[in-house]
Amino acid sequence: MSEILKVRNLKKYYPVSSGTLHAVDDVSFDLNYGETLGIVGESGCGKSTLGKTVLRLINPTSGEINFEGKDITVIDNREFTALRPQMQMIFQDPMSSLNPRMSVSQQIAEPLRIYKVFKNSADLEKRVLELMDTVGLARRYVETYPHELDGGRRQRIGVARALALNPKLIVCDEPVSALDVLIQAQILNLLQDLQKERGLSYMFITHNLSVVKHISNKICVMYLGQVIEQCETKELFNKTLHPYTQALLSAIPVPSLKNRRERIILKGELTSPINPKDNCRFAPRCLYAREECFSSCPKLQDIGGNHQVACHFVKEINKL
Ligand SMILES: Nc1ncnc2c1ncn2[C@@H]1O[C@H](COP(=O)(O)OP(=O)(O)O)[C@@H](O)[C@H]1O
Ligand SMILES: [Mg+2]
Repeated sequence: MSEILKVRNLKKYYPVSSGTLHAVDDVSFDLNYGETLGIVGESGCGKSTLGKTVLRLINPTSGEINFEGKDITVIDNREFTALRPQMQMIFQDPMSSLNPRMSVSQQIAEPLRIYKVFKNSADLEKRVLELMDTVGLARRYVETYPHELDGGRRQRIGVARALALNPKLIVCDEPVSALDVLIQAQILNLLQDLQKERGLSYMFITHNLSVVKHISNKICVMYLGQVIEQCETKELFNKTLHPYTQALLSAIPVPSLKNRRERIILKGELTSPINPKDNCRFAPRCLYAREECFSSCPKLQDIGGNHQVACHFVKEINKL
């Protein structure tokens, strides 16, 4: 079995006063052991909801989440509690995901305490120090508090907490978006090293396509709750097919003048995810939209090479 995670037709809808909000709308993907799946899309497209639903921090409206071959949407609480340590999350803003009143050692010890991993406090302390070493947090910070540390060190606490229970899968929800570029690279390197050492599988959520370019094996591009393009990372950058992904890619600065690409500026913002019509959700902003795009929603189709795109006119636009 090469997939640690197989998600099928996952939906998360929220009832709101004006109707039903389709936060995640029929999303399917696979994640292999030891690999990274990038989930990319702009703010509000449903990335965090997808990540939290996959870990069952929130319950899905429908769909399957197969973790190591077991559908975790149908197992009972006892069985799920036993699985929970294997699936962890790292959040975007360590300042708001950490408890300001808890010291570094208390924060890192918390998951170990909850799961009663150690019987005596000396073993617990030893494990906390080991985890600090693992994430590159100097032991002198052990009794400091989050506000005394910079963003990078705070995020290292987040990583240590996620690692505490020896997980197999970690959902990283914009783990570097709140950090300076230099610190971003350090945390990304740390995550990659940990992946190599421990065979971890990552779902790596970001609004920034360039962040996942070098760290993910596959990428899912999301738009208003749906996956609109999905393939291997190399393929996505060599052969960008969906007009939305093309626009995202054009926004990444290229260091050489020769290879400069024209920036595609998207008009308008995401349309409302409440009671969406059966049309292409990107159509109102698409440079190529035609009548059909406003009357039927394109399905995700394989166009060869395990490259899936949801666009009625993908072949014409890309002269395939
Ligand atoms: N608890 C909730 N109740 C109602 N709507 C929600 C809730 N959580 C998220 N949403 C909505 O779901 C959509 C996706 O949100 P989110 O997953 O946070 O997007 P992203 O992480 O891509 O920025 C947004 O329109 C957001 O307003
Ligand atoms: Mg989010």
